Amino acid sequence: MSTAQHRIGSGFDAESTADDVLRGIDLSGKLAVVTGGYSGLGLETTRALVKAGARVVVPARRRDVAQEALAGLDRVEVDELDLGDLQSVRGFAERFLASERSIDIVINNAGIMATPETRVGPGWEAQFATNHLGHYALVNRLWPAIAPGGARVVSVSSTGHHRSGIRWDDPHFKQGYDKWEAYGQAKTANVLFAVHLDRLGRQYGVRAFSLHPGGILTPLQRHLAKEEMVERGWIDETGALVNPDAFKTPEQGAATQVWAATSPRLDGMGGLYCEDCDIAEPAPADGGRSGVKDWAIDPEQAARLWELSADLTGVNAFASGS
Ligand SMILES: NC(=O)c1ccc[n+]([C@@H]2O[C@H](COP(=O)([O-])OP(=O)(O)OC[C@H]3O[C@@H](n4cnc5c(N)ncnc54)[C@H](OP(=O)(O)O)[C@@H]3O)[C@@H](O)[C@H]2O)c1
Repeated sequence: MSTAQHRIGSGFDAESTADDVLRGIDLSGKLAVVTGGYSGLGLETTRALVKAGARVVVPARRRDVAQEALAGLDRVEVDELDLGDLQSVRGFAERFLASERSIDIVINNAGIMATPETRVGPGWEAQFATNHLGHYALVNRLWPAIAPGGARVVSVSSTGHHRSGIRWDDPHFKQGYDKWEAYGQAKTANVLFAVHLDRLGRQYGVRAFSLHPGGILTPLQRHLAKEEMVERGWIDETGALVNPDAFKTPEQGAATQVWAATSPRLDGMGGLYCEDCDIAEPAPADGGRSGVKDWAIDPEQAARLWELSADLTGVNAFASGS
């Protein structure tokens, strides 16, 4: 497959922070929506965008927690959103659309990882539903407000997408659950979503990207037992980090999504997976955890996932007659 998935020499790297990539970029007058923009990478993303002049809307599953985390920041609005509940997604989108404002940046950042088997809505596997289907429905519902001629939609994926493509025969794990495979499938879905949204949106000047932020210790790891983190070599028995250099700080972790949302170097491009503040290379065939897997950027699978998501959620901003 020929691909535009190649580094462009952005001048930034794994150590760059969200503030670094925004230096010299003025976001005054721009409006961003950042899901989960009150914890971990999302919180740093909100802080950096606000510092560069943007107004940021943070739709939150736990509104009180978000308000506390974001207290003192100017130009931030908190609203309610549970991505695992399509009525909640619809409610947030309708409230936003009623404000008649347009959106310049959407960062689909919220996510859950390696949860015990959990079902939401009509029995959907929770990681696929929250990380992918909720964001799919959100962007499609917000589409009338997404500014033509310049807006970007950014999906926060993960190198975890290496673990699984879309399980077309059993996306909801009805035949046996594996928490890491479920995370992998959901993170592949985030990449495929950006590929197809970019294909549909580019005629309106709306471009989409996805990314791996790096490895960062945040509340995302809340579902992992200490023993599992010890086994993975992240911490020792006392809870101390084994190799602090193996992790990015949250400020560094937020950088790639902020770069994908704002970098002028990406003008005229889209549908690409990024890491370390640059476009990623294809994943090497002999393993490793960097780069993007073929199954995550395959346009046919991206179109098929869009169709499946439209069927499941009943929303498709691009259907004829919509
Ligand atoms: N940290 C890493 O090493 C790493 C690596 C690769 C990819 N990522 C990706 O980066 C993104 C951000 O992760 P993080 O590390 O910043 O995690 P985090 O600190 O746990 O933040 C995740 C956010 O998502 C929100 N969220 C969870 N379920 C939701 C739902 N049903 N509806 C609405 N919001 C919901 C959480 O809200 P509550 O707190 O209220 O639940 C929280 O604000 C995720 O997509 C993750 O997959 C992270």
